[in-house]
Amino acid sequence: MLNLRGPRTQEGSVSDGLSSSSSSTSAANKKKWSKLMPLFVALVVVAEIALLGRLDMAKNTAFFDSWPDLFYKTPPLAGDLGVRQMDNRRQSSPERCEEWLERADSVVYSRDFNKDPIIISGGDQEWRTCPVGCKFVYNPDKDPDAAFALQQQLGVASILRSMESSQYYSENNIDQARRSGFNIVMTTSLSSDVPVGYFSWAEYDIMAPVQQKTESALAAAFISNCGARNFRLQALLELEKANITIDSYGACHRNRNGGVDKVEALRRYKFSLAFENSNEEDYVTEKFFQSLVAGSIPVVVGAPNIEDFAPYPGSILHIRELADVPSVVKRMKYLAENPDAYNQSLRWKYEGPSDSFKALVDMSAVHSSCRLCIFLATMAQEKEENRPDFKKRPCKCTSGLETVYHIYVRERGRFKMDSVFLRSGSLTLEALESAVLAKYESLKHVPVWKEERPESIRGRDELKIYRIYPVGLTQRQALYTFKFKGDAHFRNHIESKPCAKFEVIFV
Ligand SMILES: *[C@@H]1O[C@H](CO)[C@@H](O)[C@H](O)[C@H]1NC(C)=O
Ligand SMILES: *[C@@H]1O[C@H](CO)[C@@H](O)[C@H](O)[C@H]1NC(C)=O
Repeated sequence: MLNLRGPRTQEGSVSDGLSSSSSSTSAANKKKWSKLMPLFVALVVVAEIALLGRLDMAKNTAFFDSWPDLFYKTPPLAGDLGVRQMDNRRQSSPERCEEWLERADSVVYSRDFNKDPIIISGGDQEWRTCPVGCKFVYNPDKDPDAAFALQQQLGVASILRSMESSQYYSENNIDQARRSGFNIVMTTSLSSDVPVGYFSWAEYDIMAPVQQKTESALAAAFISNCGARNFRLQALLELEKANITIDSYGACHRNRNGGVDKVEALRRYKFSLAFENSNEEDYVTEKFFQSLVAGSIPVVVGAPNIEDFAPYPGSILHIRELADVPSVVKRMKYLAENPDAYNQSLRWKYEGPSDSFKALVDMSAVHSSCRLCIFLATMAQEKEENRPDFKKRPCKCTSGLETVYHIYVRERGRFKMDSVFLRSGSLTLEALESAVLAKYESLKHVPVWKEERPESIRGRDELKIYRIYPVGLTQRQALYTFKFKGDAHFRNHIESKPCAKFEVIFV
């Protein structure tokens, strides 16, 4: 019967399987190819084929110039088509597939965020630039996309933004916030939609050099709320009981005059008691980051996953529960008496922090308000992708025995997606990484954090991939919990999500 393989499967017009490749191209051929587009309506093709009486050589031969010119424009002349088919024989190569897919899949989103920016009602506008058009206004003259309050209005997303711990402000708990009707949650939690962390490269000179530890007390403490809901006050007492000498500058157990520059003071101590007021996942405040700046080993009471925030394995001490105090005390005493071991714990100050630390804190290279706009614009586009013309994108193209898959990739913190092509012959995670790397190397891509990081840890021009993950995952998933379970899982993802979208984190 009719060879409708191309149209039915929405595969590429070069997918006739008739020929293998030849790289010979001419300008004229190129021009013709630029007009070849996927079949929208199989009927049109069938009619053409019938007209030509060449059923056995059916090809995808519908043409249109560009969206929104959805309609069949110029019926090809019989002779024309014949020539084209000859050309196809010579040109069906995976490279041709890529060119074709680039055009065929480029359905245009109806909203251009440069002309029609994301509008957010209320809040600030602190970022310098954002890759997506974005405006924060107090009294928008048209319906905003989102607002920093609970909204009743249809189509306006309600945003909750807070940097406080949900143990003090239960409404900040993500599930609680969703139940209350917030659509977008921005908290310190890496599981929130748009995390707002305390860290930024600009605020914390993380690579500041280590100074001589000149104080006789082992540790410094700046704790002012003595009634915190976690065990930090008991921990302080236990350390004191264990003969750890502590200079306390805060209101709790004060034994030093508090009117000092905190970071300057911390630099002189071997240890810094970075005791948060609650032990909540991802809730890591300036107490911790200031200790890192000062090159004073943080002894932490706080986030159960504080190791995720350590600049290097073994660079911090963690009192997870009171029962940990004796072992932490032992370690503090050991490090205090062994300069080489102590210095080893600060090795990252000389050699740079781990990739995992950089990947985590580089998120802040893009201001959270801008990340919010990227999030909203991405959601708007995903909604549009339910439109029939998006559903009809071919997203893959068969040439000979090989299928070329079209996927989209962008760097975390950016908005625009770039095309990357994968071949069925090597649809593996390794091939994904090399294709992404090759793509961004060819674009001479500059990572979004380049200007933000301290000079000494910017690296040179080479790109290094830390993670690639599907767009839409939370940062907790992206950085820690999500992983394709091997090549088969990845292949299944690509097959089941046509034109799949990914984000890449460079370190
Ligand atoms: C702390 O020091 C005091 C006085 O030097 C001593 O009596 C006590 O045993 C020490 N306690 C611990 C836990 O080392
Ligand atoms: C600490 O180690 C670094 C190398 O990791 C070295 O350059 C530095 O001199 C050492 N400092 C001390 C006080 O030993």
